[in-house]
Amino acid sequence: MIMKKIDISSTINRIKLSSCIMNASGVLCSTDQELSNLLNSSTGAVLTKSCTSIPRKGNLKPRYFEWNMGSINSMGLPNFGIDFYLNFLEKKKTKKPIFLSISGLSIEENFFLIKKANLYSKITAVELNLSCPNIIDNEEELGYNFYKISDFLKNIFKFNKKPLGIKLPPYFKDKHIKKMALILNQFPIFFVTCINSLPNGIFIDTKTESTVIKPKKGFGGIGGPIIKPFALANIRKFYTYLRKDISIIGCGGISCGKDIFEHILCGASAVQIGTQLMKEGISVFERLEKEFTIFLQKKNYTSINNFKGNLKSFQ
Ligand code: SIN
Repeated sequence: MIMKKIDISSTINRIKLSSCIMNASGVLCSTDQELSNLLNSSTGAVLTKSCTSIPRKGNLKPRYFEWNMGSINSMGLPNFGIDFYLNFLEKKKTKKPIFLSISGLSIEENFFLIKKANLYSKITAVELNLSCPNIIDNEEELGYNFYKISDFLKNIFKFNKKPLGIKLPPYFKDKHIKKMALILNQFPIFFVTCINSLPNGIFIDTKTESTVIKPKKGFGGIGGPIIKPFALANIRKFYTYLRKDISIIGCGGISCGKDIFEHILCGASAVQIGTQLMKEGISVFERLEKEFTIFLQKKNYTSINNFKGNLKSFQ
């Protein structure tokens, strides 16, 4: 039997990716070694840990826990500061698109970070994280503030020249997604990433009758297989409401090739791997690529464009 060649390349707006699979920001993408591993892996792009203007230690440990269905974290944006990531990238020779994730703790800090990223040619795009749920004493995440975000974006696009995407929190109501999409549609945004972890979850160890992470009395962001239905729903709704040139990167609950298929069927152009990367390490990308390719072969698809966004409603 002759096997058809399966092409899993993709584009995020005008950015070409040799593979639609990449890492999620936050997981194994903070240090020199972790970023080098990602650059040498089969991912279609590399995303850095969300950075701030100066280094941060993050929240107290333990701040990450995983079980068979998912993970809970309250990392608190530990990172080496933007200069570390910019210097690292300046030194590296790579053809892979590089996405710099930034997550300023204030609107002003985000302006500063975006301005700085604009000066570096090695950065293909910026993923602006407006959805980190783990900052102690912070105001509500900007991704949930429909009033502030419009003005904020208006000011960013007065000076920003880099391809820019936004990492969004999960939304649970249709009207909220519609509202956010209407706002985003007014700006030259390249992509959105759906979704960050589900905020304010809790996991209990019944033996000790205690929470399992220390910060915020045990409340943290939930990721992994348990959140996949919410990721798929957000992708699908944003795919319906966003301008067609705004690509969607799916993130949430991917642990096998079939999960990637589901994200793309809902409308994602690429996918990010978080919890599963943490569980399995860098080899996860080869396994997922293989599983996804075999899945497409069985379906007789040769490229992700054969099925992207084509989810049918039950008749
Ligand atoms: C963290 O560092 O707290 C996680 C980042 C995020 O959820 O955006």
